[in-house]
Amino acid sequence: MLLQGEIALVTGGSRGIGKACCLALAQEGAEVLVNYVANETAANQVCEEIRARGGKATPLKFDVGNPQQTQEAIQNILKEKKAISILVNNAGITSDGLMMRYAVEDWNSVLDTNLRGAFIASQAVIRSMMKERKGSIIHMSSIVGITGNPGQAAYCAAKAGLIGLTKSMAKELASRNIRVNAVAPGYIETDMTHVLTTEQKEGILKAIPLGRVGRPDEIAQAVVFLASGRSQYITGQVIPVDGGMGM
Ligand SMILES: NC(=O)c1ccc[n+]([C@@H]2O[C@H](COP(=O)([O-])OP(=O)(O)OC[C@H]3O[C@@H](n4cnc5c(N)ncnc54)[C@H](OP(=O)(O)O)[C@@H]3O)[C@@H](O)[C@H]2O)c1
Repeated sequence: MLLQGEIALVTGGSRGIGKACCLALAQEGAEVLVNYVANETAANQVCEEIRARGGKATPLKFDVGNPQQTQEAIQNILKEKKAISILVNNAGITSDGLMMRYAVEDWNSVLDTNLRGAFIASQAVIRSMMKERKGSIIHMSSIVGITGNPGQAAYCAAKAGLIGLTKSMAKELASRNIRVNAVAPGYIETDMTHVLTTEQKEGILKAIPLGRVGRPDEIAQAVVFLASGRSQYITGQVIPVDGGMGM
């Protein structure tokens, strides 16, 4: 197993891509902290699934959009555990709309959850990683953070911001053996994309060279790779997992 003895925190681990990351990290031997904000039942189910396979998992409620809650929850965990060695900043929301009518409150909540949340959670774990001189942080960006997308200015700004954050953190933390990378998923079948209309889905499908929608476990495999020693000489990179959509 690739991640025996590691402790991983996955934000937004209760559903979709985050859930797949929790299951895949646990499959490789990591103990997983499954963060959620509202869906306690789903988070408990992820933990039960991991335990049923012989793994170790704990649900952990906090809102990544709330800096104080995030810091306190992580500090409490670090009183019990020596270090969190893998952080997957996956929690994210969309709130789409054309710029002309876009409310500043929506801009704030998209940026606070997707971007500031990743900064705050990273800040809360890096001290323990620095002490251990080991760590892997993975930010869940998006292919639209590279390409842009009409109707998603706030979301794309947040996801592009994560790429800048990835590179700056990678440069700042490399000397402590902490690697920081991002995954940029394309169109993945989850609750987030269920809300798209059939017309929108058909339009997106046409832009995917591999000709199909991606699965959460296909993102999770890239996350496991970046979390593990198999990627020990990779830092500051953005790996698109998008069926070729962003080419
Ligand atoms: N699906 C795609 O096609 C796609 C493409 C590119 C990038 N992404 C990115 O991948 C990540 C996961 O997306 P997904 O499609 O799996 O989303 P999803 O199915 O909507 O799941 C979102 C997850 O994030 C959690 N969450 C939302 N707001 C939170 C907050 N304030 N604090 C803590 N947790 C919070 C949710 O927890 P609860 O269950 O408690 O609500 C849930 O576990 C996101 O960052 C998204 O932007 C997705």
